[in-house]
Amino acid sequence: MIVLGIETSCDETGIALYDTETGLLAHALHSQIKMHAEYGGVVPELASRDHVRRVLPLTETVLREAGKTLQDIRAIAYTQGPGLAGALLVGAGVAESLACALNIPAIGVHHLEGHLLAPLLEENPPPFPFVALLVSGGHTQLMRVSGIGCYELLGDTLDDAAGEAFDKTAQLLGLPYPGGPAVAKLAERGTPGAQKLPRPMLNSGDLNFSFSGLKTAVLTAVNNAEPIEQSQADIARAFQESVVEVLTAKCLTALRQCGMNRLIVSGGVGANQRLRESLNAAAREHGCAVHYPRLEFCTDNGAMIAFAGAMRLKNRKTGNYGFTVKPRWDLAELVAP
Ligand code: KG4
Ligand code: ZN
Repeated sequence: MIVLGIETSCDETGIALYDTETGLLAHALHSQIKMHAEYGGVVPELASRDHVRRVLPLTETVLREAGKTLQDIRAIAYTQGPGLAGALLVGAGVAESLACALNIPAIGVHHLEGHLLAPLLEENPPPFPFVALLVSGGHTQLMRVSGIGCYELLGDTLDDAAGEAFDKTAQLLGLPYPGGPAVAKLAERGTPGAQKLPRPMLNSGDLNFSFSGLKTAVLTAVNNAEPIEQSQADIARAFQESVVEVLTAKCLTALRQCGMNRLIVSGGVGANQRLRESLNAAAREHGCAVHYPRLEFCTDNGAMIAFAGAMRLKNRKTGNYGFTVKPRWDLAELVAP
């Protein structure tokens, strides 16, 4: 059964076709990064208007690439939340209307469930249960995952998300948006140990995170450093090391607490190479396995939405194409399909 996936929650239009029998058939993405770069962050109204321009042409692209037609699609999955209200409404509106026209079911998907399940699109997907680290621009969460829709929150950020901290650090260092890849690139040239930054909540005894104090420490370091590139690289490196060390330590604690040896990592920060190195080394040492999505599916994409939708399609009936979006939506509210 072929499912069309539509992701429009933020600044990427992602479209994909997933076949429940044979796997991913095609996917396409349009990133709005260039459009928002001059504003230093996402401008919601510009994002919505751009999704309007991209959704149907990208749908035609994936159908062509897969050698399929609209009539081959049996269901349409779209991101229902959380995200920017206007941007979500574009994907939801297109998905529900198209589903109505084709007389097939439409299904609203939780964006974070999409991220969480993205590693299952890869070869040798991990079986349930596992611990999941969700590290995106808006979220830093550890979850115990015992099946589709069975998500128990183990720890969360008390303030900024890890990706947000990367983005704000980039701003302080005068690097372009989005900050994660830019900070990671600059950090490669930093000298280990040249700058010292705190490890927030490392020894808090729970699985929560806090990154806003780290951002303040970066600001102080920037103000005290010489305005030369080496100092900036040292700060970028120290910042990345701090985030990576805290994330790694808390993942290990979560695995131990749950008595599990499988970790999956997803969300934009999951693309960070230093984080992957650190988690892989820690996992090897403790006899655990870590699963990641391929790099392009760490950040927002349509494939993860098509896949999450496909997992929830059982018993889905056609009809009732009314819809709402959920700009705020707690993942722990989901139930098994
Ligand atoms: O999952 P995502 O695409 O969007 C959300 O749902 O939030 O994540 C975007 C976040 C941004 O904060 C971006 O700076 C960060 O992921 N990011 C990275 C890297 N690539 C993207 N952070 C660190 N290292 C990276 N290589
Ligand atoms: Zn995302």
